Amino acid sequence: MKFSTSNFATYFAVTAATAATTTTTTHAFVPLLVSKPLKGTTESSSYANVDRYCVDHPNNNIPNHIAALVGRGLHTKEDHPIGIIRSKIQDYFIAQDSEYKIFDGEDPIVTTTQCFDDLRINPDHPGRSPSDTYYITDETLLRTHTSAHQSMHLRDGYEKFLCAGDVYRRDEIDSSHYPAFHQLEGVKLFPSADVDGAKGLSKEEWLASPECKMIADDLKETLEGLMDHLFGPVEKKWSDDFFPFTEPSFECEILYEGEWLEVLGCGVIHSEVLEMADRGDRRGWAFGLGLERLAMILFKIPDIRLFWSDDTRFSKQFSAGKITTFKPYSKYPPVFKDIAFWLPEDFVENDFFEMARGIAGDLVERMELTDTFTNPKTNKTSKCYRITYRSMDRSLTDDEINVLQNDLRVQSETLGLEVR
Ligand code: PHE
Repeated sequence: MKFSTSNFATYFAVTAATAATTTTTTHAFVPLLVSKPLKGTTESSSYANVDRYCVDHPNNNIPNHIAALVGRGLHTKEDHPIGIIRSKIQDYFIAQDSEYKIFDGEDPIVTTTQCFDDLRINPDHPGRSPSDTYYITDETLLRTHTSAHQSMHLRDGYEKFLCAGDVYRRDEIDSSHYPAFHQLEGVKLFPSADVDGAKGLSKEEWLASPECKMIADDLKETLEGLMDHLFGPVEKKWSDDFFPFTEPSFECEILYEGEWLEVLGCGVIHSEVLEMADRGDRRGWAFGLGLERLAMILFKIPDIRLFWSDDTRFSKQFSAGKITTFKPYSKYPPVFKDIAFWLPEDFVENDFFEMARGIAGDLVERMELTDTFTNPKTNKTSKCYRITYRSMDRSLTDDEINVLQNDLRVQSETLGLEVR
């Protein structure tokens, strides 16, 4: 099983060095999973309305197949792996401190201010680009992380909270990457008295202060406890990381079946983020973790597409409060197709991936770059991708895939690709 990290932390965790310089249509009806909601969760089905996302705006880049995923509320279903993990995490925090407020029904449409500016993510940060993010209009988008709700809740006076939700990123395609996934965010502010000694310190002095260390230690201790709660006693490793909204920032890896897996990003909330949220007098920590990644490990779910499956052979395997090993039902054979083309200068790989998903939906299991070639005479570059088509629930015929592949060849030309 491959666990690449780009599903969550690496998106914003560009290195400090890079960060300094960059940083109407009719729509198909999608049935909702009939499943009991978790106790105390918010009904999110009102968000299941593609017309909210596919609006007539020149910079809207949300395809129907993405809009159709919004509002499924997998994190609020008590017998869905995503909901099960989420409630396990919630139980841990509530047992630590019953004052944690739980949020899970925020609108997945957020503003660029909420998602980026309030978090010190610069206008030229690569994560803001339309090649990575789904924009509804120039100012509104599908949240790319649950951190988009941090500042609002802080401004509203909440001091300890968890916030779970579906997030969206344009991304590569393979068994652990899907353009929609779920995150859980945690935030805790400390009483002013605990950090009084840090008042008036310069940035360097604050970072070296016992108060800052106390918050970072509390954060690490809390999250280590969470990992043991989820995985049983497990070996953990901390490394420094970078997020524009936390300082210092860390990532946590756990040793699972002989492999180090990155499971979360976190840090001490940047003072400027608190100031912008009118909480400049306080200090605290925040973390964000990817629920699919944890669920894939804990339930041994081999493909991220399965979480969105309506197949009862999937959904019937899980029940509230229980972590059980997923029993794969027959894996149908793949169909492989190669496509090679000469690139235009402004080639955006994610546009091509998305086009394939738009045409073949979840039948696209993986898209892999197999060859790059630059003609020394013309200086033109060509790329070849191998596409793995596979259905979760039936055998595909070569003929039906040829039709899809041919559509992709034809449509690729609209991206300026010259198919070879
Ligand atoms: N929002 C970050 C991400 O999606 C994770 C994070 C949350 C990091 C809170 C630090 C603090 O990558």
